[in-house]
Amino acid sequence: MLVEPLYFMKFSSKYDRIAFLYNILETPIEHFMFKSWRKKVIPEIHGNILEVGLGTGKNLAYYPDDAKVTGIDVSPNMLKIAKRDHDRDMTNFATMAAEYLGFADDTFDYVVSTFVLCVVADPEKASKEMKRVCKPGGCIINIEHMRSNSEFIAFFEDMFNPVSKALLDEHINRNIPAIIEKSGLRIIEERDMGLVDVFRLIRSSPR
Ligand SMILES: C[S@@+](CC[C@H](N)C(=O)[O-])C[C@H]1O[C@@H](n2cnc3c(N)ncnc32)[C@H](O)[C@@H]1O
Repeated sequence: MLVEPLYFMKFSSKYDRIAFLYNILETPIEHFMFKSWRKKVIPEIHGNILEVGLGTGKNLAYYPDDAKVTGIDVSPNMLKIAKRDHDRDMTNFATMAAEYLGFADDTFDYVVSTFVLCVVADPEKASKEMKRVCKPGGCIINIEHMRSNSEFIAFFEDMFNPVSKALLDEHINRNIPAIIEKSGLRIIEERDMGLVDVFRLIRSSPR
């Protein structure tokens, strides 16, 4: 596995520190929004799957039983909670940075990432890595918080961005579709999930 040690130490810290509180903090938004999106999207995913930025494993309950799930996250404490709270086979779960995935090219049928490209330090590099490890003909699935196409909504996202960055490293105004396309992926579906177009599902293909 290739991970720059200093980079790794720097970016694992914030979620590591709040890992024990994360599920509690997220309860309202999880209950009213995220949970129903996970239930819609995750059960359709099959085969050999990599989940990037697994967090406390909130998607794990929704993968089909026969799915082979590998999960990575830069925070060991978030992964510990995923392991504690889920009885899926966790032997393939590792502490790793999205920008330095330690897997061979063309390994996975699906690469999944939910609410992660808004957090990672280098989203384009992370997206390039997702492309690299996804098989030709495979699919990358992102559900992400992003900059709205409405200037009115984007104004408020810009205004609150410094606060969400300071609290949770969340860059709520990133142009995620542009980042995904810049990484060389081809977007095949973009669908609004909630709060107009602030949360979107993006399916993309590596070739
Ligand atoms: C907002 S949480 C989302 C967690 C989970 N995907 C979910 O849907 O609940 C963001 C996660 O990304 C992880 N993360 C942040 N930077 C990362 C990086 N560079 N590489 C891998 N994971 C990272 C954090 O540790 C955290 O678990």
